Amino acid sequence: MVLENRVDIVTKKSPFSSHTLIFLHPLARHTECCIAMTAQHASVKTLLLTGRQVKRLLKMKDVIGAVEDAFRHKGLSKVQMPPKVYLFYDKFDGDLRTMPSYVEDMDVSAVKIVNVHPRNAKEHGLRTVMGLLVLVSPHNGAPMAIMDATHITDMRTGAASAVASKYLANKNPKSLSIIGAGNQARTQMMALITQYGHFDEVRLFDIDAEKTKAAARQFRRLYGDQIGKVRATTSPEDAVEGCDIIVTATSSRAPIVMNDWVKDGAHINCIGADAPGKQELDPAILKRAQVIIDDWEQASHSGEINVPLSKGEVTRNEIDGEIGEIVAGMSVGRRSESEVTVFCSTGLAVQDCLTAKIVYDTALAQGVGRLVQIV
Ligand SMILES: NC(=O)c1ccc[n+]([C@@H]2O[C@H](COP(=O)([O-])OP(=O)(O)OC[C@H]3O[C@@H](n4cnc5c(N)ncnc54)[C@H](O)[C@@H]3O)[C@@H](O)[C@H]2O)c1
Repeated sequence: MVLENRVDIVTKKSPFSSHTLIFLHPLARHTECCIAMTAQHASVKTLLLTGRQVKRLLKMKDVIGAVEDAFRHKGLSKVQMPPKVYLFYDKFDGDLRTMPSYVEDMDVSAVKIVNVHPRNAKEHGLRTVMGLLVLVSPHNGAPMAIMDATHITDMRTGAASAVASKYLANKNPKSLSIIGAGNQARTQMMALITQYGHFDEVRLFDIDAEKTKAAARQFRRLYGDQIGKVRATTSPEDAVEGCDIIVTATSSRAPIVMNDWVKDGAHINCIGADAPGKQELDPAILKRAQVIIDDWEQASHSGEINVPLSKGEVTRNEIDGEIGEIVAGMSVGRRSESEVTVFCSTGLAVQDCLTAKIVYDTALAQGVGRLVQIV
């Protein structure tokens, strides 16, 4: 009995014995995975989902909701989420991280493995960031699903900026600046246009001028009716000056955005720095701004604050809190119209976990994916 594209409650006589095979609906209580019972033991069916399927199933609006929930659960200390574990492939200029998590109240648990190899596009024709995720049943440890997590990573990171902007940016931002025109730029744009509906102006900058122009063309095509003007700029200064919301999404290891260019009241989503040694902001911005991180252990090890902390340019006292505390209502977000706010994202495993649960539930509802017996 092979269940290819759908999951049902099915009973069938085993051809090899007198045992009855029972395929339980994955959403049945205590059986999130498909289990075939025999007299001796049960076997598990795992749902396999490709990147293309994940892409079809995920909607940014839903991911923003899931990430907001993830931050809230983290703020309330209702998650188990050890900091990411890193392996460094120094000779290949890449790294690999493992990210386990458990959202206790929702009984959702997952492990993601994800790499970051900035030279991949040029040297191998591959993406910088690729990921794989296993959704695990907390009830019995069975693998419920194995899915591509590349798109999940893109989407949940864009969504993190949307949620952070909701709590930290001034209301009704008119202008958006995106530094770095890679994959992240796409889902940052998608998330922020989903959040705000309209921008008068979007400015882009990448050290690769062709990539800047290509992203500008794509944004005009996709969001032309929601954005007044999309500009491909030739300097980061031109891209940033006077903007209400700034996103940095590069793999830079030196500051790109300078304090003098950032206007009072601006909000910055700092995305690119997610490994030791990475940095995108002039440390003077961190001294001037309210600085909100996603997780102290991760941020101090590998986020935007890791380099300035190690050089003594900022101290722990200058870090104002975690986004989860703000989302959970335990502390305030923006404190005045004129303050500069910075959200430093390293990416939390719980963001992946709750996003993957949406993928799984939607796949089951729509009969997408392939069930296979792996364990
Ligand atoms: N915080 C998170 O949760 C999270 C999640 C995913 C990715 N990231 C990080 O975000 C960064 C971008 O990821 P991606 O998937 O878009 O990678 P990508 O390689 O597709 O894009 C990165 C872009 O940055 C540009 N760039 C590099 N240095 C620059 C500089 N000094 N000035 C301007 N542009 C520069 C590159 O030309 C490239 O176009 C990576 O560092 C990645 O590790 C963070």
